[in-house]
Amino acid sequence: MTHSPQLKPLAARRSQPLGGRARVPGDKSISHRALILGALAVGETRISGLLESEDVLNTAQAMRQLGARVERQSDAAGDDIWSVRGVGVGGFRSPAAPLDFGNSGTGCRLVMGAVAGNPVTATFDGDASLRSRPMRRIVDPLALMGARVVAESEGGRLPLTLEGARDPLPIEYRSPVASAQIKSAVLLAGLAAPGVTTVIEPEASRDHTELMLTHFGAQVASKPEGARGRRISLTGQPELHGAGVVVPADPSSAAFPIVAALIVPESDIVIDDVMTNPLRTGLLATLREMGASIEESHRQRNAGEPMARLRVRASRLRGVEVPPERAPAMIDEYLVLAVAAAFAEGTTVMRGLHELRVKESDRLAATAAMLRVNGVAVEIAGDDLIVEGRGHVPGGGLVATHMDHRIAMSALVMGCAADNPVKVDDTAFIATSFPDFVPMMRELGADFA
Ligand code: S3P
Repeated sequence: MTHSPQLKPLAARRSQPLGGRARVPGDKSISHRALILGALAVGETRISGLLESEDVLNTAQAMRQLGARVERQSDAAGDDIWSVRGVGVGGFRSPAAPLDFGNSGTGCRLVMGAVAGNPVTATFDGDASLRSRPMRRIVDPLALMGARVVAESEGGRLPLTLEGARDPLPIEYRSPVASAQIKSAVLLAGLAAPGVTTVIEPEASRDHTELMLTHFGAQVASKPEGARGRRISLTGQPELHGAGVVVPADPSSAAFPIVAALIVPESDIVIDDVMTNPLRTGLLATLREMGASIEESHRQRNAGEPMARLRVRASRLRGVEVPPERAPAMIDEYLVLAVAAAFAEGTTVMRGLHELRVKESDRLAATAAMLRVNGVAVEIAGDDLIVEGRGHVPGGGLVATHMDHRIAMSALVMGCAADNPVKVDDTAFIATSFPDFVPMMRELGADFA
C-alpha cells in the first residue's frame, strides 16, 4: 500500500517568547499496547487519552480485522473513551484483507507478535517508509516459537504474510538489540504458549508492555542480567481481563515544545501529565546536563506508569557527551536533541546511534542533513553524531523530511529560534504521531507560515 499524499510544506520563523500550556497528546507506545492487549483480553477495556493519530488508528483497525470490537465513545463528562472488547488469548480470526500499518513500525511489529500465537494467517503491509524497514529481527524469534513466514518481499520486508502457530512454543530469546519492539513481539506471542517465555535484552528498553501485561492480569518478572541488561519472563496462557487505561502525555511528543521553549529566549511553558517512566526520560536527563531549566511537579502514577507536570524555561545550553547506554531511553529524541545541541555553546557528542539508521528514515543521515542545510557544523563518525553548537543557528535551509514525522517537527522547532526561516518540504507525516502539532505550537506563540 503505497501512499502518495500531497506534499504540505511549511516554514518556521524566529518566534516571540513561547508561553502557556502545551497540549501534548497521549503516548504512542501506550496507545498501541492498550488496543492490542484490549483485543487479547476477555471483557471490555476502556481507554482514555488514546492518541488519535494515523499510526494508532491503523492499529485499532487491525484489531477490528482480527476480530475485536473497537469503538470510540463519549463518557458521562463528554470525554472521548475508546472501548475494546477482546477475543481472549489465542482468539484472533484470519483477517480477510491485508493489515495496513501505514508508517508505524511499532504497530506492525507488535501485532506480528500478537498474531504469531494464533492459528491465523495475516498479511502485513505499510507505506514506502515501513516497506523499507527490517522485519527479520521480529519474525526470526517468532519462527522459533512456531510461526511461519509464508510470503515476504526482498530482504524480509513488507508486504509479508505470517502464519501464526497452532501450538506456540515458549522460548528463551537473547535479543541482539535493545529494542522494545522485539521484546514486546516475543512476549505477546508468548501469551499463547504454555510455560514461561523469556526475553533477555542487552540494555533495558521501555517496559510498557511488561507494565501493561501485569495491569491486565498476566504474570511478568523482570530482573537485571549482566552489566546493563534485563531478563523478562512471562508465564504463558494467562486469562487477560479487560482493564481501564489512562494514557499519559507522550514524552516523545512533549520533546518538541520542550526544546522549542529552551531555545526561544524568554519562553516559559507548562506541559501536564507527561509520562516520566525512567526508560523514556533520557532526553530530560541530557537537557538538564546541558543546563536546561525543567521542573517537575504534580507527580502521580497510573497502571504503573509515572507522570508529572513539566515547567520549561528558556535556558543557556552547553554541549555535552551523551553516552551510548542512554540510547534506548531516548531513541526517538536524538533529532530534537541535535537541534538543542546546535543552539548550545560547545560540542555535543551523541554516541552509539546505530539504531537510528532503521527508524522511519535513516535518522542519522537525515539529522546531519537537516543541520547542515541550516548552517550548523555536524559530523557523523561511525555511529556517533557530533554537533558543533555556536549559540545560534543561521537557518535559511529547506529540510527534506523523508516521510518522517520527527524530522518535520524537529526542523520546525529549529526554525522557531534560527536567524532565518527554516522550511520543511512536507508536514503530512506529522499526523502519524502528533496531528495537532502545528496548531499547538502556534498557540504557544510559534510563527509558522
Ligand atoms: C517503540 C520502541 C522503539 C521506538 C518506537 C516505539 C515501542 O523502537 O523507536 O518509536 O513502542 O515499543 P525500538 O524498540 O525498535 O528501538
